[in-house]
Amino acid sequence: MYYPDDLVEEVRTKNDIVDVISGYVRLQKKGANHFGLCPFHNEKSPSFSVSGPKQMYYCFGCGAGGNVFTFIMEYENYSFAEAVKLLAERAGVNLPEIEYSEEMKRKESRKSRLLEINKESARYFYYQLRSKRGEAGYRYLAGRGLGEETMKKFGLGFASVSSNDLVQYLRSKEYSDDLIQEAGVASFDERLGLHDKFWNRVMFPIQDTNHRVIGFGGRVMGDGKPKYLNSPETMIFDKSRNLYGLNFARTSRRNRMILCEGYMDVIAMHQAGFTEAVASLGTAFTIGQAGLIGRYVKEVLLAYDSDGAGTNAALRAIGILKEAGLGGKVINMEPYKDPDEFMKNLGPEEFAKRIETAENSFFFELRMLEREYDFKDPESKTKFHREIARKLCGFPEEVERENYLEAVAEKYHIGFENLRKLVASYAAQTGLAVPVKRPRTGIGEKKNVPEENRKNAQKLLITWLTDEPEIYPKIAKYIRAEDFTVELYRKVADKLLEGLSKGNFSPASLISLFSDEEEQREVASLFNTKLEALQTKQEREKALRDILYTVKRNSYEFYSERMGADVEALNQVIAGKKALEELSKTHISLDE
Ligand code: GTP
Ligand code: MN
Repeated sequence: MYYPDDLVEEVRTKNDIVDVISGYVRLQKKGANHFGLCPFHNEKSPSFSVSGPKQMYYCFGCGAGGNVFTFIMEYENYSFAEAVKLLAERAGVNLPEIEYSEEMKRKESRKSRLLEINKESARYFYYQLRSKRGEAGYRYLAGRGLGEETMKKFGLGFASVSSNDLVQYLRSKEYSDDLIQEAGVASFDERLGLHDKFWNRVMFPIQDTNHRVIGFGGRVMGDGKPKYLNSPETMIFDKSRNLYGLNFARTSRRNRMILCEGYMDVIAMHQAGFTEAVASLGTAFTIGQAGLIGRYVKEVLLAYDSDGAGTNAALRAIGILKEAGLGGKVINMEPYKDPDEFMKNLGPEEFAKRIETAENSFFFELRMLEREYDFKDPESKTKFHREIARKLCGFPEEVERENYLEAVAEKYHIGFENLRKLVASYAAQTGLAVPVKRPRTGIGEKKNVPEENRKNAQKLLITWLTDEPEIYPKIAKYIRAEDFTVELYRKVADKLLEGLSKGNFSPASLISLFSDEEEQREVASLFNTKLEALQTKQEREKALRDILYTVKRNSYEFYSERMGADVEALNQVIAGKKALEELSKTHISLDE
């Protein structure tokens, strides 16, 4: 964050959140809050709330939430700095020019030079496609069913047959050879010197979410190899954190995205009106890309190739989506290979039907698994049922697990009680809720339930403290910011506990400390989670003590593991042990 904190805070306090959001969403006052239809997901009855007193918004439907900056960032797809700027102008606050450190300036200027080179290259390819030399390229693309408008929208271009055109063009614009090479549009070797990386290919510029060109994919026109040549990763091109088509898909407001395998698929889908289609960038789908999608929608439909490789890729993607907390379904494209072919043959209306009937990803996984077993052989069939039970343990939430259990039992004609027993015995052997087995990804760490519980306890405690600051004096002596072992929560707790001890805490100001939209959203959810309806005072007292105990025990274990290396950890452990002993004997009273 480059603006000073107090200035950011000034901008925030001068922009009343109810005022600002009223400019975008029709709000109605109900009690202390205002309600309206959430602009971040489709809904018919309002679950989007804006709180004047808290200066925050939160959607109980989709979990979007934050302060006035978050809203502008999400709605306008702005960076934090851009949101500050917009709101400063709105409130008539003067902002200084952003001050960069020398190091940052160097990096920023190199980045912006690389972006310029990519932009110039895209222009150059675009121009070539429409020139005499590009006729073959234009014919190829038109032959694949792309209209002029589509080619324009995606900025498609052509790299000509000679191998030095772009390099010369960029040199004429005074870019150094060094930078041209670093931008990834040229290669160097002894024989040719610096020469164009792409030649005689149709060109697909790859854009980031702000429509800036960050790289290229180039396709041969025909059967040559390699079929696609992609820009290498550079300072501005991270293949695992961008998606082809996302710059358009993110504003499609469809409440879902369609994940395809190829550039051509995305383009064909957009041309057919499915502007929520995206694809990974010539590499496997990653957890980073899932997170990126998760900023905009919570459901992903997979439209991968219907061949063996596509199916395996889909299975991997399902695991990653699950890990990122996104719902997944699989679109059946039979008898066609991919969305591009499907669209050409059956058209958008048929595709819309396939979306309607897309298969739940869990059932898809089971259906693929099924093929490895022989149901005529009792032993093989039993193994399959065990595998089902194992996979069912992957749903940590009981209601969801039960629902799947019921559906699976019916689908595969297994007695419900029998399957439930199988699940229970599996869970007992392995400690409930086994991580879902995922075919070879190697990405990410497995989550297990106790881990989730610990995280939840930390979250609940923060929520409770913000909702009812009056409990703070009763538990102050047990709790410190270091007890929050989840980094994001620790940052929040640090400010929260400090504020509470001084008697001045504003949730909305805290959110500005996080520049990342995802973090802001999570922090906002901390302040807006509804606590379980705990009826009696006894229940509440017990719950508070249990939560506190869990947080402390986790903290104790966390620092115990690290004690060898770290003196500070030892201090935490000693203090933690003492607090734990005390807590286990204490009753926390919520009486006034
Ligand atoms: P068409 O075959 O022209 O319809 O393109 P497509 O986008 O459908 O390609 P395909 O389904 O064969 O491949 C999916 C994606 O994988 C492509 O969009 C590329 O990103 C990537 N890809 C395909 N072939 C190659 C290759 O030879 N090299 C590299 N690096 N990536 C490839
Ligand atoms: Mn294809």
